[in-house]
Amino acid sequence: MKLITKATSPFGLYTQFVAKYCGIDLEIEEIKDLAELKTPEYRKINPIGKIPALVVEEDKTICESDAIAMAFAEIAPEMKLLGKDFLSRGQVREWLFAISTDLEGIIAPWFHAAVGAGKPIPVVIEPSKAAALKFLKVADTQLTAHTFIAGDELSLADFALSSIMVFVYRVLLGPDLRAEFPALMRHFHAMAAIPAFTETFGTPEFAKETPIFGKDAAKKAKKAPATPAPVESDYSVPVPDPSLPTPTAVKIREITAEDDGKRVEVNGWAHRIRNNGGLIFVTLRDGSGYLQCVLTKKLIKCLKAKQLLAECSLKIMGTIKIDERAPGGRELKADYWQLLGGSDGEVKAKVTFESNPDVLLTNRHLVHRGTNASNILRIRSHTMKAFRDHFDSRNVFEITPPTLVQTMVEGGSTLFALDYFGQPAYLTQSSQLYLETICPSLGDVYCIMPSYRAERSHTRRHLAEFTHVEVEYSFISFDDLLNRIEDMVCSVYDGLWERHGDIIAELRGKGETEAPKLERPFMRLEYMDAIKMCNEGPNPILKKVTRTNEDGSVETEFVPFEVGDDIPEAAERELVERIGRPVFMTKFLAKMKAFYMERDAQDASLPEPDQRTLSADLLLPGVGEVVGGSMRIPDLETITRKFKEEGLSLDDYYWYIDLRKYGGFPHGGFGLGLGRFICWLCGIDHIRDVTLYPRIEGRCKP
Ligand code: 4AD
Repeated sequence: MKLITKATSPFGLYTQFVAKYCGIDLEIEEIKDLAELKTPEYRKINPIGKIPALVVEEDKTICESDAIAMAFAEIAPEMKLLGKDFLSRGQVREWLFAISTDLEGIIAPWFHAAVGAGKPIPVVIEPSKAAALKFLKVADTQLTAHTFIAGDELSLADFALSSIMVFVYRVLLGPDLRAEFPALMRHFHAMAAIPAFTETFGTPEFAKETPIFGKDAAKKAKKAPATPAPVESDYSVPVPDPSLPTPTAVKIREITAEDDGKRVEVNGWAHRIRNNGGLIFVTLRDGSGYLQCVLTKKLIKCLKAKQLLAECSLKIMGTIKIDERAPGGRELKADYWQLLGGSDGEVKAKVTFESNPDVLLTNRHLVHRGTNASNILRIRSHTMKAFRDHFDSRNVFEITPPTLVQTMVEGGSTLFALDYFGQPAYLTQSSQLYLETICPSLGDVYCIMPSYRAERSHTRRHLAEFTHVEVEYSFISFDDLLNRIEDMVCSVYDGLWERHGDIIAELRGKGETEAPKLERPFMRLEYMDAIKMCNEGPNPILKKVTRTNEDGSVETEFVPFEVGDDIPEAAERELVERIGRPVFMTKFLAKMKAFYMERDAQDASLPEPDQRTLSADLLLPGVGEVVGGSMRIPDLETITRKFKEEGLSLDDYYWYIDLRKYGGFPHGGFGLGLGRFICWLCGIDHIRDVTLYPRIEGRCKP
């Protein structure tokens, strides 16, 4: 392609700079005398009569330097000089037009004369100089916040600005003024480091004054002490090297040995920052993994580097190096970084191992950034998926029942009441009743929903809101129910260990290399036998009874359990600890359990409260009860009677009673506390530690 221009034309040089950068070969036709532009011959090919002019066809040209530069950018779209999306394309043009009118238009009289492209014009310099400096200040401010003039990507506007800066530097920005435009100078120097720049402009004036330009720059700088060394403020932010290959944006987890030597872009948070004599090691965390990034001197000798503080967010570009000595066997040799969001660096001190539990709960949003807490969240996500996979493989449908209800399931004492558009309502204690109603529609159904209990118990396994995995199976026996619970626990356990054993083992912290054996079938122990077991032997598990005497003194006594007693948490855990493996505690007495439980037909002759129910809790070592389930009363008459005995309105539960009115059927189900299951799986003591934002009495935030 041919470019008609004059060697000294700043605009001609600008278009040549772009062409060289884009790898476009230009044949230059020199116009010797500017008077030629006025001739009819020239006007025929270029009616505006300007240079530079790009000859596109024999008698057709494009003139106006920005138009020519845009044409080059179109020829080389891979250079992405026009912006990558609607907004950035607009912003690139915005800056091009602004540079052209607010800067070039204003300083034209000086540089035309200065570069010999026109006669000196006796302009009133001061007002126009002030206007030009005003624009340069705008550019400087923009470049303080952004790497490039139209944002954070190199664009045509940077070529336009740096080309005109070659002249601005000479005729407008004297040494006294340069320090006032640190970001602009940083940008200018960075653009001048592009080889196409020197090829176009030669080694311009400023190169002799600053040690960062040209091959011998450093030497020259030493020899000429009169020239001040660049101060930090000369480089307010790091600048990418446009000659490097375009990086591929990756998630840390995706990086493999095959990426050795590849240039990538990673975005994340500074998990840890270590300053090692001129090098900065940033452990970047992006949620998918951790990556050590090495920032060398060149990249940290800038003002922005002061903002490299723990938990700031960053974009880092660089080359992957597979190196066994690096954490995780690889590291990133950074060649560019950009601060996306600052941090005060103090955040880590807010939550440490020593912090008291209340501080940790208040700052739980920060705790989640830690390795341990994020691993727990990861396992929680995997566990929910494992349950869903299990049910899917057993053809059980997932439903999502409402949690705003007007009925209770597990007794009125733990209901959270609320005002529902003027009517009383509650947060549900369990989705069981709704699950039951969908059996005649889908057969077997489950849900993973929150359940709420206004529990005052501050134990390590109780929450006011918990994630409840609940299932309801049609046409099963009590034995089927126990087998299905066992099948579910084992298949989820095996699957999780198989796929995420590394995280589970890390959380358990026992150095296990494989899943601890889960002995099957699980032990089945009737409630009555459990009571006996507690009371027997030389070292019985006793019931703690606390009595307040008339004088106000409190006495504590340990006595044997009686039939009908609830086995409290600590005793239950001790029992399963002694058994040493999962155990189903079955057949609790009717008087101990919820109204909907089916009774054991064998006990029909006993008074109803003393009859055993077809119920089971699954107790797991370290936690105690994790699952509670039962067969449900299937017939209309019994369920109606139970409602009346409980003092529950048949009208409120008409939909639950209809289930028995229209095709009552044997069915049963259970609820599993997700938090408790994860505590057991990962050997974690406290349910709060496996819960995103625990809800307990006295705390409803964050
Ligand atoms: O034994 P629960 O109360 O049984 C029910 O709610 C039945 N309606 C479930 C059903 O059959 N669909 O609760 C079942 C499980 C418990 O074993 C426990 O793991 C968990 O839910 N759970 C709690 N988890 C944390 N905090 C609490 N306050 C919990 N209450 C129950």
